[in-house]
Amino acid sequence: MIDRVLAIETSCDDTSVAVVERTGRVLSLVSASQDLAHAPFGGIVPEIAGRNHSRNLLPLVDEALRLSGLDWGGIGAVAVTNRPGLIGSLIVGVVTAKSLAQGLGKKLIGVNHLEGHLVAPFLSDEDFAPPAGFAPPFAALAVSGGHTSLYRVNDFGKYEILGSTRDDAAGEAFDKFAKMIGLGFPGGVRVDQEARRGDAKAFEFPRGLIHEDTHEMSFSGLKSAAHRLIESLGPEQVTARRADLCASFQEAVVDVLIVKLERAVRLEKLNRAVITGGVSANSRLRSRAEDWARKMKIQLVIPPPRFCTDNAAMIGLAGLHRLEKGEESPLSLAPSPQSGEGDFQWRSS
Ligand code: KG4
Ligand code: ZN
Repeated sequence: MIDRVLAIETSCDDTSVAVVERTGRVLSLVSASQDLAHAPFGGIVPEIAGRNHSRNLLPLVDEALRLSGLDWGGIGAVAVTNRPGLIGSLIVGVVTAKSLAQGLGKKLIGVNHLEGHLVAPFLSDEDFAPPAGFAPPFAALAVSGGHTSLYRVNDFGKYEILGSTRDDAAGEAFDKFAKMIGLGFPGGVRVDQEARRGDAKAFEFPRGLIHEDTHEMSFSGLKSAAHRLIESLGPEQVTARRADLCASFQEAVVDVLIVKLERAVRLEKLNRAVITGGVSANSRLRSRAEDWARKMKIQLVIPPPRFCTDNAAMIGLAGLHRLEKGEESPLSLAPSPQSGEGDFQWRSS
């Protein structure tokens, strides 16, 4: 039985290392954000991401181990995100994890990044623990810069995809909108801040597929509508009405996410739900979802942002679940830009 893993996450632009126990207790979690490195380019530059991972990763491994209070003797395995993601970023994590596992005689387990997001509500530390008794089955909305999907989590390792965005991820829509109105990259959090001073009814934005009988979502129409509105307003009005623009845009995204989560819970006859991924840090989404859950008597868990955004602790816990089932990855483990066959089951909505 493996009680603790050291986990590595480098699938996109954040370098993250954690030490996690089988119970979900996070003994250490350290991450290096690359936002400043990519901001001048207005988006993630894969070559820069890979280069920064290779610079940051080993110092973070040392730091995570030191903060956990353990030495390598206390670590049973190395878990690493090997799919899906930017290939140059994944390679750095996978090669490092394999070298550590081989050099130190530890087991190796490759983890799907999205499975990490789905188990994030079961992580705990001194400030967060999942509510007592919270367990599968539940509906999960994983909403980030790269992904926006609805899942039915039947058990650990048993995930059905109910529906996904047909085009942009919700976080990507926030980031593109932020860029259009001059808030920089990544702009989701800036839109959230501006929106607090704005009127969500000031502008009418489309809510793609909201009333359609499908679990699928769409945010590209919203992005195009925002682009047209910004062109017609002109730069002075955009600056003057920035808070109203942000509040109205944000409300459209949040409306779609809540309606789709509600549809999933209703059709799947579930009374538990999770919202995870970077966009779940959005203050309006959090408060609207909490009100909704109270009204609908749904047990809702939105893990704190440190467990929702890309982090290695969630990878560690997903890896521990797999090791517990007797899985182990070979030293030939390869990174892949896509999820593996069998990682998720697709359900037509
Ligand atoms: O999960 P994450 O850290 O990385 C990905 O896997 O993409 O999510 C990052 C995304 C970005 O698009 C960012 O703008 C968005 O999450 N985000 C937010 C907020 N905080 C982060 N979007 C809206 N409101 C926020 N407060
Ligand atoms: Zn992610």
